[in-house]
Amino acid sequence: MSIHILPPEIASQIAAGEVVERPASVVKELVENALDAGAKTIGIEIGGAGRTLIRVADDGSGIPADELTLAVERHATSKLTSAADLFRIATLGFRGEALASIGSVSRLTITSRRADSPAGARLKVEGGKIGRVEAVGAPVGTVVQVEDLFYNVPARLKFLKQDVTERRAIDALVTRYALAYPRVRFKLAEGNSVSLQTAGDGDRRAILAALYGVDTARQMLEVDSAEEGLKLTGFISPVALTRSNRREITFFINGRWVQDTPLTQALLQAYHTLLMVGRYPIAALFLEMPPEEVDVNVHPAKAEVRFRDQDRVFSFVQRAARRTLLAFTPVPQAVPQNLWGRTDDRPQTADRGSQIDPAWRLAHEESKVESPGSGLDDSRPAQQTEDLLRNCIKLNRSP
Ligand SMILES: Nc1ncnc2c1ncn2[C@@H]1O[C@H](COP(=O)(O)OP(=O)(O)OP(=O)(O)O)[C@@H](O)[C@H]1O
Ligand SMILES: [Mg+2]
Repeated sequence: MSIHILPPEIASQIAAGEVVERPASVVKELVENALDAGAKTIGIEIGGAGRTLIRVADDGSGIPADELTLAVERHATSKLTSAADLFRIATLGFRGEALASIGSVSRLTITSRRADSPAGARLKVEGGKIGRVEAVGAPVGTVVQVEDLFYNVPARLKFLKQDVTERRAIDALVTRYALAYPRVRFKLAEGNSVSLQTAGDGDRRAILAALYGVDTARQMLEVDSAEEGLKLTGFISPVALTRSNRREITFFINGRWVQDTPLTQALLQAYHTLLMVGRYPIAALFLEMPPEEVDVNVHPAKAEVRFRDQDRVFSFVQRAARRTLLAFTPVPQAVPQNLWGRTDDRPQTADRGSQIDPAWRLAHEESKVESPGSGLDDSRPAQQTEDLLRNCIKLNRSP
């Protein structure tokens, strides 16, 4: 076959394949756009597990009517002007590809209104064909409606999993974003069934309960650590609470869900010797760092990032997680089990006390070695544990 340039529709469907793999990827792009627009409330409605309908409504800044057509063009973005911007990106979007991609493989309708505009505007795109902008009445913000995803790419449709799996992927995605943005109100519904509704009051543990159940959420340990421009917050599971795979380890880096990150390894190292072989922790961790320290432009779906100084970030995450673990890990055998209930009403991981005794000691030693000159008070967990121990001994002696 001779070399030829592909027709634009095929080229754009190929490009769309990198951005839109399944309904959950559409939800991700639309939610990220809403967050970039400064939305305080994001409503997500799906039909047919996202195959027939995905509608994301936000109360963000809106798109000016005269820019609507541009918004659905490829490489059209308001978030980036120069190549240098790529290395100080503070928004989730930057490629100007999402809406164009979604529009080329679905029936897309965007309705938007800015606060300074008396009316809203609506634009439809069907299989990449861009319609005309019409004036409509609309509240301030944007509603993006995606119908019949992949209707014109039947091969892609065949790759979709069962409804229950696609729905679960959307649920997991929205819940994780809700956790990462606890000040934003999220609602996810399919028909009359609301699967997630958050208050937007900043309470992450309540959202954690929606993700893992109340019991697990109650047991999760809170991480809050900062060091020279790096900040890690979120939750990790105590050593007694594990999973058989790494799927429940979630990292957000500067508000972006990054799925394939060396930081997972850093976290696992923090648990080193504390978990049985083949067991993994649950974690939802949020790392904040200067945007220029992280390259977000390394993966077509933005699922990976690269750090300028990976070792520093790696060791920070490992130490922060380890410190949290040690602060909450019960003191080994020396303490009679029945005293734990009286000195510490935190979740009961104590029944594994005897199993983790040598590991605790080892881990504690390691953590002291691993944080040379970090400038942080690494003696805190040890001190807490010691205080606890002293308390227990006191209780033991009392009549
Ligand atoms: N919900 C929204 N509210 C306000 N503006 C929006 C919204 N969604 C899209 N836009 C505007 O449309 C533009 C194109 O959106 P699109 O998602 O295609 O690209 P992007 O977000 O800039 O980059 P990326 O492809 O990385 O997501 C955005 O840059 C933004 O200006
Ligand atoms: Mg976008």
